[in-house]
Amino acid sequence: MRTIFTALLIFTGILSAGAQSPDSLYLLPRPQSAKLNSGRFVFAPQFTVGVQGPGSAKLTAAVNRFYIQLGKRTGVYFPQEFITAADNNAGAQLTVKFDRSVLPQIGIDESYSLNISPTKISLTASTDIGAMRGLETLYQLVAPSGTGYYCPAGEISDSPRFKWRGLMIDVARHFIPFEVLKRNIDAMSIVKINVLHLHLSDDEGFRVESKVYPKLQELGSNGYYYTQEQIKELMNYAHDRGIIIVPEFDLPGHSTSILAAYPFLASYPANYKPARRYKLDTIKKLNLMSVMKLISETPTPTIDPSKESTYTFFDGFFKEMSGLFPDPYLHIGADENNGVAWKQNPAIVAFMTAKGIKNTDELQAYFVKRLHDIAQKYNKRIIGWEEAFNPSIPQDVIVQKWKPAPAADTLVKSIIAHNSQVIISSGYYLDMYFPAYIHYLNDPVSANVSAADADKGILGGEAAIWSESVNGDNEEIRVWPRAAAIAERLWSAASVKDVDDMYRRLWMLDFELNDRAIEENTNYNKILARWVSDEDLTPVRTLANVYTQVKGYKRLMGAMLTPGAASPNLSSPLVNIADVVHADSETDWYFRQSVATYLDKHDDTYLQEIKSELQRWKNNKVRFNDLAANSPYLRQISDLSDRLSDAAGIALKALNGEGNKDDQLKQLQQMEKALHEVQLAILPELEALVTGKLKPVPAVYPLF
Ligand code: ACM
Repeated sequence: MRTIFTALLIFTGILSAGAQSPDSLYLLPRPQSAKLNSGRFVFAPQFTVGVQGPGSAKLTAAVNRFYIQLGKRTGVYFPQEFITAADNNAGAQLTVKFDRSVLPQIGIDESYSLNISPTKISLTASTDIGAMRGLETLYQLVAPSGTGYYCPAGEISDSPRFKWRGLMIDVARHFIPFEVLKRNIDAMSIVKINVLHLHLSDDEGFRVESKVYPKLQELGSNGYYYTQEQIKELMNYAHDRGIIIVPEFDLPGHSTSILAAYPFLASYPANYKPARRYKLDTIKKLNLMSVMKLISETPTPTIDPSKESTYTFFDGFFKEMSGLFPDPYLHIGADENNGVAWKQNPAIVAFMTAKGIKNTDELQAYFVKRLHDIAQKYNKRIIGWEEAFNPSIPQDVIVQKWKPAPAADTLVKSIIAHNSQVIISSGYYLDMYFPAYIHYLNDPVSANVSAADADKGILGGEAAIWSESVNGDNEEIRVWPRAAAIAERLWSAASVKDVDDMYRRLWMLDFELNDRAIEENTNYNKILARWVSDEDLTPVRTLANVYTQVKGYKRLMGAMLTPGAASPNLSSPLVNIADVVHADSETDWYFRQSVATYLDKHDDTYLQEIKSELQRWKNNKVRFNDLAANSPYLRQISDLSDRLSDAAGIALKALNGEGNKDDQLKQLQQMEKALHEVQLAILPELEALVTGKLKPVPAVYPLF
């Protein structure tokens, strides 16, 4: 819920006299340059659109989507039924002018400029895709006034900082339905993300139909996979929005599902079934050390790199998939292969000896090189996670960095020194439950990489969502709007890094994303509704809005390390509070602004606002308990409801000058401990109301 803070923010931004400051706009990502003039273009029934250029079906479609959506946003009835290539009138109120139509590719010209006067909007770009990026910016300029909708007059010129701006979605651990992928593509196009990387296979599942090797989907999945027809539709859907798709098949490790279908590919015989690869029930004493030991020392399902039949198989497979996925990249995974399965197989060891391959890292490099050569036959460039990198691999293999980077990022420097290119995903893992600002402040170019090296070798970055605890119901809640903060990091200038300003725009963007693209809000309510057989979701929504998950790997590892705890598997329901809440609490952000302003100015308006919010939280448990009478799950988490009530009550007392502040602080600090894998997001602000001092947000969160 937005508080008085937002109201003041919007009023001071929009109603000031003369030209607005570009800083008050709600553009995300922020353009490279924006200058506002006085005056505004008002959307009225005479609004017309003309497209001038050599003809582009995808731009015409994008203009029509924009036009329809603009009508919905403004409520104005526009005169054109729809816009066709024949609508090229230079005198139209909005003209979209471009020179060439291009296929979406990495490195194409995505620049555009917008010139808005009180009587005309001109959008100009070299390419149709640049014009599409500009349309998204134009849509974000549309703002309400007291009487209608307008765009401020001004000039914007814009182009991306990085060519590769991706989102990786793991569709293997839990299947992510086709329609959810389309909605993600819609959201990506709004924030100018241009690569959808689909992690299509892992131990738990193989998710795309193969006609050449049909057992892949028949035996390698639990029945959930994309048909080839769906992939073709998805490709068109993405290309129409200026987005490419990179398919990933994770090899040689993370391959249980492939081995379940074709066990002859395996490094050791076993009865393979799609499932998690580590079996924790074999560990006698379960703790972090024993799990780490298991991960580094256990042979895991791995492709055999020593047999020619392996490469014959992947030749057939890459040939088929290269036709299905026409964009020029093929991701082969190559992460987290501990090499133990290879070392334990005498035939593989003999192969290494015969070839003079000294260790399993070199054997992995041999495997990568062989797959590289096959992919090259089908005009594909290989991408591998950072473990694919070895000085002996071909230079044109693109390396995707994912491990949390040490301060001196020597790996990136080695990759660039090898004349290879790198995509950065370190710091962009959305499954860590970190708030958006942590990802936002993580520049893809670490401090010790020179600008020249970065230009040469860093293609860009990718947000990533791994789906151990994600399925079709909560994927949009988990990814959005946080992925948009990463989109801005990759599109906008490095100097754009004001966190409060990012959040101001992010929450507005979230409204746009839900309106135009995703079902984040719908799914949130859907999961909450499962807890209560009641139409009034307010008490559970009030509760869920102020909790966030414990950060880092604690949640995943916590489940793994707790005997008897349900750790996520292919059929996990994912309907608990830690599955549904946002990693970043919007309610907390607005509350924090109010608390910070109150502590700074001691303004009575803010004090009353804060008190009424605290009162609402304190009383929430009354209705919550009514609902809990009929809800087994609410009963389980009633301690969270009590905690919210107690915490708000303590802060209220402190504000009223009642009680002992030291005791109150201690009581609040005791509530920092997680319950049900979630923490009270508003706790730092409640503590600040007791102490009078608001602590800065953490600069980093530990991974464990
Ligand atoms: C990875 O997270 N194993 C790429």
